[in-house]
Amino acid sequence: MTKILVIGAHGQLGQSFQYWAPHFPHFKMLFEDLPEFNLLDQDQLERYFQSTSINIVINCAAYTAVDQAEDQPENAHQLNATAIGFLCELSKAYGFKILHFSTDYVFDGSAQTPYGEDDPLSPLGVYGRTKAQGEALMQSAGIDGWIIRTAWLFSPYGKNFVKTIFSLLQNKDEISVVADQTGSPTYALDLAAATLKALEQKPIFIGVKIYHYTNSGHTTWYGLATAIQQQINTPCKIHAVGTADYPTKAKRPKYSVLSCEKIKKEFNLDLQAWESALEDCLKKIG
Ligand SMILES: NC(=O)c1ccc[n+]([C@@H]2O[C@H](COP(=O)([O-])OP(=O)(O)OC[C@H]3O[C@@H](n4cnc5c(N)ncnc54)[C@H](OP(=O)(O)O)[C@@H]3O)[C@@H](O)[C@H]2O)c1
Repeated sequence: MTKILVIGAHGQLGQSFQYWAPHFPHFKMLFEDLPEFNLLDQDQLERYFQSTSINIVINCAAYTAVDQAEDQPENAHQLNATAIGFLCELSKAYGFKILHFSTDYVFDGSAQTPYGEDDPLSPLGVYGRTKAQGEALMQSAGIDGWIIRTAWLFSPYGKNFVKTIFSLLQNKDEISVVADQTGSPTYALDLAAATLKALEQKPIFIGVKIYHYTNSGHTTWYGLATAIQQQINTPCKIHAVGTADYPTKAKRPKYSVLSCEKIKKEFNLDLQAWESALEDCLKKIG
């Protein structure tokens, strides 16, 4: 039986894997997060893999606070890059594959058509830069695994845009939301299910492959907020504003739609439209 360890199990993607685990009984899935399992603690990890044999590590742990990363570049670098390098060393020593997640923020957003897996990386901020460094470390480590880039994650778990807007729409008379950044909202539960369905197909791992996975379609943050409101129907007024009117510490790409053709074709996956994924998520939140 394939033994899978999910790291960062309390985050929104980690919890999404926990949700699906009972539906994949032929995988033995283990879940770890801070404080018992600290990706930055090399001794602790070494002890873990010495005592527990694992076939696949799914790494959902990351420094994901995009604006805060601008003030804490070293912390972001340690978790998003240095720790990945160390995990790769353990992968070689203990023979497990690594499934790692990365982000649309490795691109600068100057494209006008969906980004492909091989397009050049040009991150605008610390978060994207450290995630790109993590990708590069994994690609040069001589290990087997996947890097799955995703975008605009939402779920009933943790902190995310959909949960924040859901709450604001019920508690405010008006809110302003950025309408000039375009991306593909992605339901973490769909991403976790797709990853496990791909693994179920017993893929052969040779080197590090990059895939893109998002829900299908794209919108702006304003479009996403409006779609939430249409489903929950509150009187709150949503104003569309430009990025310039809503300054944030980190610069974000104007356009970061990812082409998902490769993962769709290779694993015969259907990508749910973000609107219906949102409907499902709001039912679970609501
Ligand atoms: N969120 C998005 O919109 C988005 C978009 C594109 C790509 N991604 C990528 O998708 C992946 C999952 O993101 P997510 O939104 O699920 O992240 P998340 O909710 O922030 O979860 C990250 C998890 O990692 C844990 N963690 C932090 N430091 C750790 C350490 N030293 N050792 C072990 N665990 C640690 C966190 O614990 P604490 O909460 O206690 O710190 C948290 O449970 C990440 O690789 C992220 O870069 C996310």
